[in-house]
Amino acid sequence: MKLEEQYKLIYFKDLGDERGNLVVIEGEGMDIPFDIKRVFYIYGSDTTVVRGRHANRKTEFLLVNVSGKSRVRIDNGRESAVVELNKPGMGLYLPPMIWKDMYDFSEDSVLLVLCSQHYDAEEYIRDYQTYLHEINGEA
Ligand code: TYD
Repeated sequence: MKLEEQYKLIYFKDLGDERGNLVVIEGEGMDIPFDIKRVFYIYGSDTTVVRGRHANRKTEFLLVNVSGKSRVRIDNGRESAVVELNKPGMGLYLPPMIWKDMYDFSEDSVLLVLCSQHYDAEEYIRDYQTYLHEINGEA
């Protein structure tokens, strides 16, 4: 499958008013395709840091820079793309088995990650050669 058919940029409703902004993300097929089972957020990463460097066999993700910005390099073993996350109302949806690197974190970056699965170290692939073997159906 082409990479552009695998990931999605999703723009969420801003219910803000004169009191400020309010962005809502509803799971289970409303705003994002999955039921949210886990949430984590990354902040305080230096501009020189590269995080991620893994793919997940089962988990779907939605990444939102709720503050500041960062870049995500995504790769399906054949193609790659870079997405800049720089708006609190914009999310990057990733299905399972996409290799991802997060980097170029601004000082005020808070990267919120919504996940379809609980944490399970066994479903992480942290070696790129292993990842390539698995997506190519090699043992
Ligand atoms: P890691 O996967 O390296 O973070 P990133 O994807 O941002 O590069 O996670 C760092 C550590 O935290 C690692 O020991 C696994 C642990 N961890 C959990 O226990 N639960 C979680 O939900 C996540 C994302 C990480």
